[in-house]
Amino acid sequence: MSKTERKKSVELDPQELQAQRQIIAKMNEKNLYHMQQTGKQKKAMIVTYGCQMNEHDSEKLLGMLKQMAYEETDKREEADLVIFNTCCVRENAELKVYGNIGAFKNLKKKNTDLNIAVCGCMMQQPEIVQSIKKKYPFVDLVFGTHNIHRFPELLVNSQTANNMLVEVWEEEGEIIEGVPSMRKYGLKGFVNIMFGCNNFCTYCIVPYTRGRERSRNMNDIVEEVENLVQNGTREVTLLGQNVNSYGNTLEGDIQFADLLTELNKVEGVDRIRFMTSHPKDLSEPVIDAIAAGEKLCEHIHLPFQAGSNKVLKAMNRGYTKEGYLALVERIRAKIPNASLTTDIIVGFPGETDEDFEDTIDLVRKVRFDSAFTFLYSIRKGTPAADMLEQVDDKVKHERFNRLVNEINKISGEINAGYVGKEVEVLVEDVSKTNTEKLMGRTRQNKLVNFAGDKSLIGKIVKIKIIDAKTFSLNGEVII
Ligand code: 5AD
Ligand code: SF4
Repeated sequence: MSKTERKKSVELDPQELQAQRQIIAKMNEKNLYHMQQTGKQKKAMIVTYGCQMNEHDSEKLLGMLKQMAYEETDKREEADLVIFNTCCVRENAELKVYGNIGAFKNLKKKNTDLNIAVCGCMMQQPEIVQSIKKKYPFVDLVFGTHNIHRFPELLVNSQTANNMLVEVWEEEGEIIEGVPSMRKYGLKGFVNIMFGCNNFCTYCIVPYTRGRERSRNMNDIVEEVENLVQNGTREVTLLGQNVNSYGNTLEGDIQFADLLTELNKVEGVDRIRFMTSHPKDLSEPVIDAIAAGEKLCEHIHLPFQAGSNKVLKAMNRGYTKEGYLALVERIRAKIPNASLTTDIIVGFPGETDEDFEDTIDLVRKVRFDSAFTFLYSIRKGTPAADMLEQVDDKVKHERFNRLVNEINKISGEINAGYVGKEVEVLVEDVSKTNTEKLMGRTRQNKLVNFAGDKSLIGKIVKIKIIDAKTFSLNGEVII
């Protein structure tokens, strides 16, 4: 029998974080001793699927692991611990997870000391946990999205347990501040400002896996940003499923625009970004705050999902095509150089050719800088899964290809308009595609490659754009 706990989350016991800290300290001692005895440091590998929220959760897990004297590795053969941080937004993400866990079966046979943990959104669904238990009994630990702060204790307990340890909280608890994680302080830092979602778009599993919406206190967020900046971070991205409804669960009348204005005052931070915005909640004060705040980048990720009003209604999105276009006009009137990106779903149940033409029409009217396009994927437990008129796969793919071509054509045209212009680039690293070059991003989040000395990494430089591609720009440093 494996030890399974599926419980409602509890009020946070003040002793809880203290207990986790003590466990971290003990593990640190144990792992350092292991290193003295063997000359080898314990190594952990985290495989992350899905959105930036998950990336950030993985960063927190890695922080805790580093405090336990684990070193990060990306080589599975040398790992003592492998964590899969899963995503269930679309079926293909899930299939990838299953395939990748399965690939560890033989490695685990060879190295019985190897620890394997699976966490994240998929684990919030009981039937998925059941199938992990059945198909992948070699997994040591399963935990969910709401109890990641208990990871140190769960890890230690799973290492001494004979069977798979499962602890998933059905519901979110209060927001937990001060989790003993030690983050990677990089040039760019992610900060959660809210968790969960109340929107229940009919295709989406997120409200069921990440729970109801709750916002962090403004002071805690400002403090975290100040701390990041003191440790070298220059660009901060605020994360939430729907950042525009930030503040709804807080006492007093605090809104997202207030948070943006407050963060714009933090000394030392150069750029502030945020995602994701829901069109129905993007208020005028937010547009004004972005227009006024010199640190707030002129880029808005504004998923529209579908162009047809009939489909938008069936999706429960809370706006119309005309309303979306009017919002874009208001944004462009106040922030003329704003770049706009979006998410689009193709083949939502009942989508006809005519409905799809509305999606194409909206893309042509707005002219997005880029877009993430998704084939509709049935998510069990969501209302859209039971809608009768599922779209034929072949039709979905044909529409998808047409849409991608249209988007790429527009992206290429927008990028070509940058040739000859000067842009401000935060230099991030050596270019991934050409190691002779450096790469960075403009305030509009455009990827720019250019020749330059590595000493420029971490600096903001002026670049003249000399060439444009669909997904990137090439430029040269202006001396
Ligand atoms: N099928 C396809 N795409 C989806 N998304 C969310 N749920 C689904 C689904 N069931 C897309 C939406 C969302 C993005 C993160 O993922 O476009 O904005
Ligand atoms: Fe999912 Fe809609 Fe919430 Fe976004 S706003 S997380 S698409 S339910």
